[in-house]
Amino acid sequence: MKTLVIGNGAREHAIAWKLDQSELVSELFVAPGNAGTAQIARNVPIAATDMEGLLDFAINNGVDLTVVGPEVPLANGIVDRFQSAGLPVFGPTQAAARIESSKVFSKELMLAESVPTGQACTFSSYKEARAYVETCSIPTVIKADGLAAGKGVIVAETREDALIAVRDVIKARLFGNAGNSVLIEEFLQGQEVSVFAFVDGDYVSPMVAACDYKRVGDGNVGPNTGGMGSFSPPRKDHWNREIEARVRREIMEPVAGAMVRMGCPYSGVLYLGLMLTEDGPKVIEFNCRLGDPEAQVVLPRLKTDLAQIMLATARGQLRGLDVDWGDETYVSVVVASGGYPGPYKTGYAIQGLDAIEPGVTIFQAGTSLSDNGDVVTDGGRVLTATAPGKSLAKARRKVYDNVKRVRFQDSFFRTDIAADA
Ligand code: AMP
Ligand code: GLY
Repeated sequence: MKTLVIGNGAREHAIAWKLDQSELVSELFVAPGNAGTAQIARNVPIAATDMEGLLDFAINNGVDLTVVGPEVPLANGIVDRFQSAGLPVFGPTQAAARIESSKVFSKELMLAESVPTGQACTFSSYKEARAYVETCSIPTVIKADGLAAGKGVIVAETREDALIAVRDVIKARLFGNAGNSVLIEEFLQGQEVSVFAFVDGDYVSPMVAACDYKRVGDGNVGPNTGGMGSFSPPRKDHWNREIEARVRREIMEPVAGAMVRMGCPYSGVLYLGLMLTEDGPKVIEFNCRLGDPEAQVVLPRLKTDLAQIMLATARGQLRGLDVDWGDETYVSVVVASGGYPGPYKTGYAIQGLDAIEPGVTIFQAGTSLSDNGDVVTDGGRVLTATAPGKSLAKARRKVYDNVKRVRFQDSFFRTDIAADA
C-alpha cells in the first residue's frame, strides 16, 4: 500500500515511523516532512495546506491511503476533497472536524447530549461579554471559537485579566476571525489527561491516555506551548479501567452517536482533553487528530498494525478490528529552540543525533537538511526524544540520559517531565 502522511511535526514523524513498521505499507511519502521523516520515507515538498497539490500528488502516484496529521487541513476540508475524488483518507470531514475547529459547536453538542463539561456562555458582542465578565466567578476561561494554533485559550486568574482577554479577543481581534465568537467557560480544577480513540461513526475503539506538559518552563510556569513533553500511561489513579468505562459511557459514545445523528459522522482519531475534577471527569476540549507530543508516547504502545487500523477507519470498517494498546511506559521530552514559544532563530546544526542509545527514538519536528546534508534547526519545537521503561522513573532516566546528548545553539528542554507523576 502506497501511503502518504501529511504534516511535518514530530507527531507526523511518529505516525510515519509506525506505518513504516507495517507489512501493508510498500512505499511511504511524507508531505512536506522534515529531516527525520526523510530517513524513513520520501519527503514530498508540498505544504500540508496545499489541498489541490496534495490531491494531484496522490492521484499521480497511485497513493492507496492518505493520513492527515494536523488540524488545519482537516478543518479546511481535505478529507472531503480526497473522498470526492474516490481516494481513501484517514481523518474527519470538515463538518466532523468542527469538534475542534469550532469550540461553540463542540460545547453546544456536549450540552445537548448532557456530556459533562464546564458551564459556558457564548458571545459575539464585546459589550455583552464584558458585562458578563464583570460579575462571573473568577478564575474564568476565555476561548476563541476558531482555530488559533493552540493559543486561543486564556485562563484568567483575576477579573482584570478576564476583561483584558475579552477585549483582546473580540475587540482587538488578537486571533483574527477565530475570535468572532468567544466562549466564557467555568474554570475546572483537577488533573488533566489526554485521551485518544479511533472513532468510526458510532464505534469507539479501546482508548489510550497520556499526560502532556503545556507550559514552557519547569514547574509549569511561563506561556503555553504546543507541549514540552509527555508520558503514557498516566498514574493508575488518573487513568484506569473504571475511568475509561465512564469516559466511554458518559463522553465518547454519546458524542460519536450524536455526530452520526447530526449527519456529520466522525472518522479518525478523536482526542479528548479531560479534566478529572472532584465531580468526575469533564471535557475541556476535543481535537480532531492525535496530540503532539502525546502521539510520540502512545503510538509506540500500539500493538495492532496502524496501517490496518487507519485503512479500516477510512473504509468505515473499524468495528470488529482489535485495537490493542500495550502496557509499557514511555516518556518523551521536547527539545526546543531558544525563545520558543516566542520568536527564535533557526539554521543551527544539530549535534549528537548519532549518540542516541538503541531503544530511544528521536522524532524530529522543526528540522531540515542543509545544502551539505547536515541536520539543522528549522522550527520552535525541534525534536522529541522518547524512551520506554519498566517504570516511569526508569523511562524518565533513560530519556534524560539521551536528550542531553543532543545539542544545538540555544537549545532547551524541560527537566521535570514525568517527575511529579
Ligand atoms: P486548549 O487550547 O483548549 O488545549 O486549552 C489550553 C489549556 O487551557 C488546557 O490544556 C487547560 O490546561 C486549560 N483550560 C482550558 N479550558 C479550561 C477550563 N475550563 N478550566 C481550566 N483550565 C482550562
Ligand atoms: N499536546 C496538545 C495538542 O496536541 O493539542
